[in-house]
Amino acid sequence: MTKEHFYITTPIYYVNAAPHLGTAYTTIAADCVARFQRMNGKDVRFVTGSDEHGQKIADTAAKNGTTPIEWCDSQIPAFKDAWEMLDITYSEFVRTSSKAQEKSVQKLWQDLYDRGYLYKGSYEGWYCVHEETYYAESDLEKDEEGNFVCPECKRPVQKASGEENWFFKLSDFQEKLLEYYETHPDFILPVTRKNEIVSFVKSGLKDLSISRSTFDWGVPFTFDEGHVAYVWADALIAYLTGIGFADEARLDEFNNFWPANYHFVGKDITRFHCVIWPAMLMAAGLPIPEHVFGHGFLLTKGEKMSKSKGNALSPKELVNIFGVDAYRYYFMSDVQFGADGSISIERMCQVYNADLANTWGNLVSRVTNMTKKYFDFKVPQPSSDAINNPMAEMTSKTCQTFIDCMDAVDFSGATKAAMELAHRANLYIEESEPWTLAKDESKAQQLADVIYNTLEAIRLIALMLAPFCTRTSVEASRRIGAASPFEVEDLKSSLVWGQLKAGSSVEIGDALFPRLEEDKILAVED
Ligand code: MSP
Repeated sequence: MTKEHFYITTPIYYVNAAPHLGTAYTTIAADCVARFQRMNGKDVRFVTGSDEHGQKIADTAAKNGTTPIEWCDSQIPAFKDAWEMLDITYSEFVRTSSKAQEKSVQKLWQDLYDRGYLYKGSYEGWYCVHEETYYAESDLEKDEEGNFVCPECKRPVQKASGEENWFFKLSDFQEKLLEYYETHPDFILPVTRKNEIVSFVKSGLKDLSISRSTFDWGVPFTFDEGHVAYVWADALIAYLTGIGFADEARLDEFNNFWPANYHFVGKDITRFHCVIWPAMLMAAGLPIPEHVFGHGFLLTKGEKMSKSKGNALSPKELVNIFGVDAYRYYFMSDVQFGADGSISIERMCQVYNADLANTWGNLVSRVTNMTKKYFDFKVPQPSSDAINNPMAEMTSKTCQTFIDCMDAVDFSGATKAAMELAHRANLYIEESEPWTLAKDESKAQQLADVIYNTLEAIRLIALMLAPFCTRTSVEASRRIGAASPFEVEDLKSSLVWGQLKAGSSVEIGDALFPRLEEDKILAVED
């Protein structure tokens, strides 16, 4: 049977700075979806990469006394290492400096040239190198001395007067885009982002300069080799390269996986993805991705967290303190995907202790220890009506909520569902008092039911937490004698009550999430 195809992407990140919590955030979110969809039995492609061309990178390389390609080569390991450390299961890492990307970029723009969507003109506006974005004078802001600055990053902008560029007839697509948004209401998510884009497009689209002739760090156009592609006219095409566009040998793969199901991006770059990108695809006669999800910003002390502002913590520092699973869990559960969210080490400690140590880790430890004590490390046989119990009743609803949330990329909702089941299981233990049942021979079956039910709850919670807590979910499943969550082929049918096999061996082990002392961790931060 052929598997259903699923394709998700992260932005391809600039390599002028090392990966930080912000870039890790999008990447982890995409990884959670990729894992969830694989657990659903789908054939998944998950593309990330590095955006290496353009003036910003050329300037950074020059500042570091090196060439652009040497600079990029030196930065790539930091990204690949970070993604490995965070258990990111991408299928392809596209570097825009690669041969495959060059072929894609040249193919797409040659095609648009042939179709008459490009013309040569002179560009009279302004350019912000940091944002790699063109601005009309009316879009700019002024600093205290009256100089024009970028409306986004407030840095000085450069005047590009009379630079000869190739232009893409973006203005031809204004009506087509508006019609597309109307007929595909889920294309731009969440809805708040959609409203912003619609009013931006309604206010009028200008043609887009897509080439630079003033420097050569980029992909040269085949129809005019003196021009290299503007960095965004290059970067977006990485989404096609990652699944084999312009590669004869990967034609089937491309046809199977395009259009993408999701582009995950931060809200800072939704315009590029929701306006320029679909217009380019329409011009090329290629289908448009199903969804662009523009998530919010992580804020530290109320400010957008970014390397250039110097308020970016390194993922490694946090992983060292909390571990990968807790890192992923915290960012996915505590920040509503789509909205801005404040993050702090204090809050991370609280979530770690409340959810992972005291609720989930504690449940696994209690139940495996009781299985050892009362049933000699074996999953007990439940009575035939064990299905009629408070845990089973709650489970079907909770599992459905989990699936619905994951389908809607509502990670906080999904983790909350898993945690509710863990809370309920802990409460069920308190209510049924296995330690009292164990003292009474006539209650042996009741005791077996309680232990079975809580072990089974652990199996289900581990499945639900697996996209987030990639390691401890496997370990918890192993300890109760269940299959690894990543080996299931159909998550929905695995999330049905009663599949843990009686007689399987149970193991005890170290705490999955040892309790952290907040004071000590905050002292480390200072
Ligand atoms: N190279 C472009 C993207 C090209 S995609 C075809 C780019 N790169 S970037 O390195 O600046 O990465 C921007 C992305 O990083 C954001 O869209 C978002 O996904 C992530 N984040 C960077 N800072 C962030 C926060 N403070 N909070 C959340 N995510 C943010 O733009």
